[in-house]
Amino acid sequence: MSFSQRVFCGQVTPDDVGRSVQLCGWVDAYRDHGGLLFVHLRDRSGIMQIVFNPEIASADLCRKASSLRTEYCISVAGDVKKRLAGTENPNIETGNIEVMVTQLTVLSESDALPFAVSDKAMVAGASMAGADNVAEDLRLQYRYLDIRRPQVRDNLMARHRVFQCVREFLDSRGFVEIETPVLTASTPEGARDYLVPSRVHPQNFYALPQSPQLFKQLLMIGGMERYFQLARCFRDEDLRPNRQPEFTQLDLEASFIDEEFLYELIEELTVKVFAVGGIELSRPFPRMTYTEAMDTTGSDRPDLRFGLRFVDVTDVFSKTNYSIFRQILQRGGCIKGINIKGQSEKLSKNVLQNEYAKDIVPSFGARGMTWMRAEDGKLESNIVQFFSQDELEALWKKFDVADGDVLIMIADSSYSVVTSALGQLRLHLANRLGLIDENSFYPVWITEFPLFEPREEGGVTSSHHPFTAPDRVDFDPKNIEELLSLHSRAYDLVMNGEELGGGSIRINNRDVQRKIFAALGLNEEEMREKFGFFLRAFDFGAPPHGGLALGMDRTVSMILRTPSIRDVIAFPKNRSASCPLTGAPSAVKREQLAELGLLNLGGQDVLPGTAEKENKVDHLSWVSRIGIAAHERPVIEEILAEAEELALIAFQKAGKEEPMFTVVPVSNRTRPGTEEKRSELAQKGQLLKSAPSVKGNYFKVASILE
Ligand code: AMO
Repeated sequence: MSFSQRVFCGQVTPDDVGRSVQLCGWVDAYRDHGGLLFVHLRDRSGIMQIVFNPEIASADLCRKASSLRTEYCISVAGDVKKRLAGTENPNIETGNIEVMVTQLTVLSESDALPFAVSDKAMVAGASMAGADNVAEDLRLQYRYLDIRRPQVRDNLMARHRVFQCVREFLDSRGFVEIETPVLTASTPEGARDYLVPSRVHPQNFYALPQSPQLFKQLLMIGGMERYFQLARCFRDEDLRPNRQPEFTQLDLEASFIDEEFLYELIEELTVKVFAVGGIELSRPFPRMTYTEAMDTTGSDRPDLRFGLRFVDVTDVFSKTNYSIFRQILQRGGCIKGINIKGQSEKLSKNVLQNEYAKDIVPSFGARGMTWMRAEDGKLESNIVQFFSQDELEALWKKFDVADGDVLIMIADSSYSVVTSALGQLRLHLANRLGLIDENSFYPVWITEFPLFEPREEGGVTSSHHPFTAPDRVDFDPKNIEELLSLHSRAYDLVMNGEELGGGSIRINNRDVQRKIFAALGLNEEEMREKFGFFLRAFDFGAPPHGGLALGMDRTVSMILRTPSIRDVIAFPKNRSASCPLTGAPSAVKREQLAELGLLNLGGQDVLPGTAEKENKVDHLSWVSRIGIAAHERPVIEEILAEAEELALIAFQKAGKEEPMFTVVPVSNRTRPGTEEKRSELAQKGQLLKSAPSVKGNYFKVASILE
């Protein structure tokens, strides 16, 4: 059959009344009205009602039409007609017209569906159909059906428009789209690498790029001057709604530029892409130093859609008699608080004391909190009598208090405990009290990050990545205190509490780059081994350069206000980093591993528990986590041997040759919904720090049933 005359359902308008059209698509829904069959035909552009009317269509055609079922793929030809008054359907854009079918071809039939695809009611006023309550894993397993749903389709269409907008804008600014390798060597961005074994070079691995960072810098050294790429990046890290193991960055880099060039460029681009979603952003975007962000919001990605900024009240209590505060300040601590304006009705004494002070704030890592409510020109609380009049007056002033306000203060000897707990509390309160306007968008540049962060095992690690230029270069790479005082020329673009992008001006001097690697603890040999090719490029006239990467999944998700970035990715991984559609990741055959040289890989460094398995007593001790003393071993060896013999006899009696150890496949089970409630410590990876071996969010223990 020919499709040359085919038009999209959404293209047909009342102007076409009287014309003949050919339409193709899927049966969204159908309704039989005593021989008169109405069908919603859906294609990518929308829905058209098509009608099989026995007065116009042949008996043969009507019989064929009566066999149609939802999601059959069909082609029809017919005449466009205005609908009778009173039968229009405001649920669909073409609701004033319909097509009287004269020809039907069933292109492909469909099985019964695992969930409803249609989200449109056929009858005006009827409740909508839809698959919104379907489990996400089922939707991902049948993602091709999910994509037929208008909501998912529209998300992908909008993503395409954003990508087109990016390409056009950057092209107009002289940026060239260049692809960089996916099979490559490791790029340090702070996550674990996904590795790909090489068959040609047994026991050697490519790493999938965590970002094209090294290549884009090499392109600058190569003289390309302005590069961009909508690049796929791969990071093996703990998943969250805004993280995927593979995701897309708008990665860009330019030479002979400074921070201002990038702020200007990215602001203009961001304004344009948000406009694609009908969101207006005003420029210039405000800027905030890292220190100010931490001091006033407790986060380096502050949500500025609401107030609740921190006020430092340490100095108010410098001579306090309140012993808890005094002791904390003697230990060099600080006291910060927030004024929750006019919310005393919603934050009763009971809520403040029994919910926040007892449960919520301790769960954020602080030992406690102090609250006060402003009533009749006075601050009142359960401990107000411990403070002097001067202190209470100073608080009133500093927090700019009015009746009806609620103050919450957190004191601790650690600055980071205070800011982290108060930061989480700030978000909790804003959500609880409905202070966040979901339709507002507050971009902000965060600048002057620390160049390094302390590493728990000693030394420092890069806050961003090791190619970021420091604010000064006259530092001693061995002096940890000095290293921790350095700032970087990095910047993050943050919106509504989400990090959309980040970048920096880079180092373009080989000696400075070496010094940074040395500060990170790499010796000359390690530098050569890991980054030799990169450092060598700096020997050939590296231009000053800088760039940024914008997380496109996060950006599109924010524009479309979707709860997760999975909603704007065609084939995302689920919450446990697997693909319910393809079953990836999956086990591979032994032969495949052998071909790749992956059997017996790892030498001495075996998984905990596997070595112990060689000796049965050690194995038993290991799996049961019970220490077995030397004098107990002979007895246990004897018992084990007897047990084995008995088991064998029993199995042989039962006519089986091999003992069967497990009847069902062993798998991890979590109660539905509990994944969401993982503790903060688990999310930061701290809980798993001392585990012998970690896989994803879990630590491995030896299998007990084998
Ligand atoms: P960075 O690591 O900050 O910088 O990444 C840039 C942006 O990429 C997005 N992003 C992610 N999106 C989805 N899932 C993930 N797992 C994920 N990880 C990061 C975020 C983030 O802001 N090479 C540097 C950029 C540069 O210096 O030019 C880099 O990759 O939106």
